[in-house]
Amino acid sequence: MIAEKHFRNVALCSGGVLVAGLIAVGNTNAADEPTVYGNVIAPIFQAKCVTCHGPDKKKGKMAMHTFELLMKGGDSGEVSIVPNHSDQSEVYNRVILPEDDDDHMPPEGKDQLSKDEVAVIKWWIDSGASADGKLVESEIPGEIKELVVKIAKDNPEGVVITEEKKDLGPIVPAPTAEQETAIAKIQEDLSVVILPISQDNPGLTFTAVNVAKDFDDAKLARFEPIAGNLLQVNIARTQVTDAGLPTVAKMANLTNLRLELTGVTDAGLDHLSGLANLEYLNLYGTKVSDAGLGKLAGLKKLKRVYLWQTGVTEEGAKKLAEQLPEVLINLGWDKEIGNKPVIAKVDGPVIAEEPAKEEPTKEEPAPADATVYSQLIHPVLEAKCTGCHGEKKQKGDLALHTLAALMKGGEDGEVVVAGKSGESTLIKLIELPKDDEDHMPPAKKEQLTAKEIALLKWWVDSGADGAKKLSEAQVPAEILLLK
Ligand code: HEC
Ligand code: HEC
Repeated sequence: MIAEKHFRNVALCSGGVLVAGLIAVGNTNAADEPTVYGNVIAPIFQAKCVTCHGPDKKKGKMAMHTFELLMKGGDSGEVSIVPNHSDQSEVYNRVILPEDDDDHMPPEGKDQLSKDEVAVIKWWIDSGASADGKLVESEIPGEIKELVVKIAKDNPEGVVITEEKKDLGPIVPAPTAEQETAIAKIQEDLSVVILPISQDNPGLTFTAVNVAKDFDDAKLARFEPIAGNLLQVNIARTQVTDAGLPTVAKMANLTNLRLELTGVTDAGLDHLSGLANLEYLNLYGTKVSDAGLGKLAGLKKLKRVYLWQTGVTEEGAKKLAEQLPEVLINLGWDKEIGNKPVIAKVDGPVIAEEPAKEEPTKEEPAPADATVYSQLIHPVLEAKCTGCHGEKKQKGDLALHTLAALMKGGEDGEVVVAGKSGESTLIKLIELPKDDEDHMPPAKKEQLTAKEIALLKWWVDSGADGAKKLSEAQVPAEILLLK
């Protein structure tokens, strides 16, 4: 971990001149002044290298998330950084190799360093590669100063080191083999979708929106063997009642819980009082009242609670907000005036308001409706394809990072023909044998799983509909069962 003092902004004054400024956090003493390494170099490595060379992965036995580890280098025995000699520094030599060279860093297809970033790294090494050299304007040569300013501008937050990991909530262990079997069985029996939160977090997200009409307490009880693995549960609009909530009580790592428009009442909330990780709770359209709300007072991580069209009063909401400093409670009781629900931000420190996004509408309280594309298709493309077909790179003139780009196609036109996977280049290429040179993704890259291929194919064959709601789609159970 890079020392706290490095998590600082470089302030830019209006003339575009670099100023050794600080954001007002904690004590400001000389040791807190911005440094070239901490404020410019480390953030570049953090953004472009640390996913493979950091606390989680140490490819080539090399880590770059602290200065000491960076200087230590990797398993080749080459010296990673030779102060004053960029040409003898493995880190620099690797990044200036042609991108198609196997030794080039970051590897082909990954987010590359910009020319400016390479130039700034070279200057830092050649000027001594110091850990605590101050970012003092007068000591930075003019052309480098410009680049540093440019790099800072490219990053809307200025040059700030980002968190080592995105906050994905608690990280729970991946399901055991036994649990995998249970998951497959639940998916098969109940036609529900259970997915890992992300590549970085094996915790599970589960939604019953597509089977809400028949999903009841008994079905919910089937989740007990994987209760501890669930981070997000959406059982909104289902037949679940208070009697089902003892199952939810076992989901100790839960961060998001959607119970809107269910039969849940105050009595059921007893079972939520132990969910210490809960951040988002939606109870819109339930019979919950002030009496039940008091039971949530111990859930200190709660950030959003939706209580529109419940028995909860403004008084009751205020009382809860007094006990939960981070909470934002949505009541919407004022709908007669302007027919616009009110975001009741009661007490607590000021946090950024995001009204439009979070306001409930009559049809659907926040967040926006999940679509098949957003929940099942986009995540696959994002994980396996957008490194070469995204915002930064469009190999074959094809981008796949948005629905519009996907539907637009590549250099030879459309890659998706709605309803016809057999005529869709995208499907044809992912189904080619892996040793065919047109196969996608390229053989040396992470491949699609059978399940991902089946999902993409099914989506194309069922009309490649970007707006189709997950709740209205019937994903065939045989696809969900695939690995
Ligand atoms: C997608 C993963 C990935 C990213 C991102 C990445 N690397 Fe690497 N890196 C590797 C792998 C794999 C190896 C080991 C294989 C090899 O030596 O080529 C490696 C090896 C290295 C080595 C050699 C270590 C040694 O002594 O053997 C250096 C230096 C290096 N990377 C620097 C960087 C720099 C600098 C960045 C960011 C600009 C970066 N890497 C980004 C995967 C990555
Ligand atoms: C490592 C980089 C890389 C990754 C990852 C990758 N591709 Fe490609 N893709 C390419 C390159 C390079 C081409 C152009 C090949 C050519 O012109 O022969 C291409 C071409 C394509 C084309 C043809 C575009 C056209 O109009 O001719 C499609 C479709 C495609 N890729 C789909 C995918 C899909 C789907 C994924 C993810 C499952 C993926 N690619 C992942 C590098 C990649």
